[in-house]
Amino acid sequence: MKILGIESSCDETAAAVVENGHTLLGNEVASSIDLHKAYGGVVPEIAARSHIEVINPLIDAALATANTDWSDVDGIAVTYGPGLGGSLLVGVLTARTYAITKKIPLYAVNHVQAHPFATFLTDTLLPNYRLSASPPSFPLLALIVSGGHSQLVLFTTPFQYRVLGKTRDDAVGEAFDKVAKILGLPYPGGPSVSQRALDGNPRTYQLPVAQLDSPYDFSFSGLKTAVLRTLQAEAGKSYDFPSTKLSELLNASQIANMAASFQYTAVKTLVQTTKKAVSTFGPASIVVAGGVAANQELRHQLNQAFALQPIYPDIKLCTDNAAMIATLGCLMRQHRKPPVDPYSLEALPNLSM
Ligand code: KG4
Ligand code: ZN
Repeated sequence: MKILGIESSCDETAAAVVENGHTLLGNEVASSIDLHKAYGGVVPEIAARSHIEVINPLIDAALATANTDWSDVDGIAVTYGPGLGGSLLVGVLTARTYAITKKIPLYAVNHVQAHPFATFLTDTLLPNYRLSASPPSFPLLALIVSGGHSQLVLFTTPFQYRVLGKTRDDAVGEAFDKVAKILGLPYPGGPSVSQRALDGNPRTYQLPVAQLDSPYDFSFSGLKTAVLRTLQAEAGKSYDFPSTKLSELLNASQIANMAASFQYTAVKTLVQTTKKAVSTFGPASIVVAGGVAANQELRHQLNQAFALQPIYPDIKLCTDNAAMIATLGCLMRQHRKPPVDPYSLEALPNLSM
């Protein structure tokens, strides 16, 4: 059973073919990230236009790599939310069109729910993938950490889950992006902050870990503000000094030390919260997914924290991709979830889990 996945929720356009929920046959991703760099964040109109330009060639490329004809595609799985409205619309309308014209069942996939399912891929002939030997087991605790989401979800099946906690304000990837901006480092902030952190001492600045009344929730906006206030003080400036001008007053070691201190504290917050959930719910597997799952400090701290080793997607499957969408699509078909009407599926930018 082969499923074509289509993803276009933010700035990555992606198409993939997955067989039987575990074999990755084709995986294509095009990012418009370079076009957004000048603006320090994703510009929705530019992202949507880029999706339109590349989505059809990417689908053709994924099918070609997978050696799969349209007649062999058993289902199309598409991200219908959450995400940017204009971006989602391109993927949804493309998927609807192919579902109608090629007469293929259409499955609507929640992007955030799909992230952990990248770890269900165990086989591929594609070069340079590091996949687990076996899929995770249920009950599965997923730490989903990306630019738009930070949440802990306990799955008892792929479709039955409980959101244990989520962020009250910024997502952790968003905090990396905002701190990068303050430090004068390029967008996206995750890779640039973690790269700079390699040269810094994480104990230089003592930053706060948010204490919340609900045990599995996160908050990162106070941490971002603490970074700003600390650097304003370092530069001898008051609280009203603009964050965009601060990096010019900082030297390389201050930038590296703050990158390391921020990363250490953000990661510690994630690990402490995950620890509480693991000891309360005793999951059979711990899965870490989303763009921030690529972070090596996070992997290091999590690996130290648990006897049960967390499972991570291949680095290429941490950030947005269609392989995770196709994998969850396969599971929907295997579990006989009904396909949606290709004439009426709508994009839902605010879809939640
Ligand atoms: O999952 P993703 O591609 O998109 C969303 O669904 O949001 O995640 C993108 C986010 C960005 O905020 C980016 O800064 C962050 O993931 N990210 C990282 C790393 N690589 C990407 N954060 C920390 N460390 C990394 N190595
Ligand atoms: Zn994502």
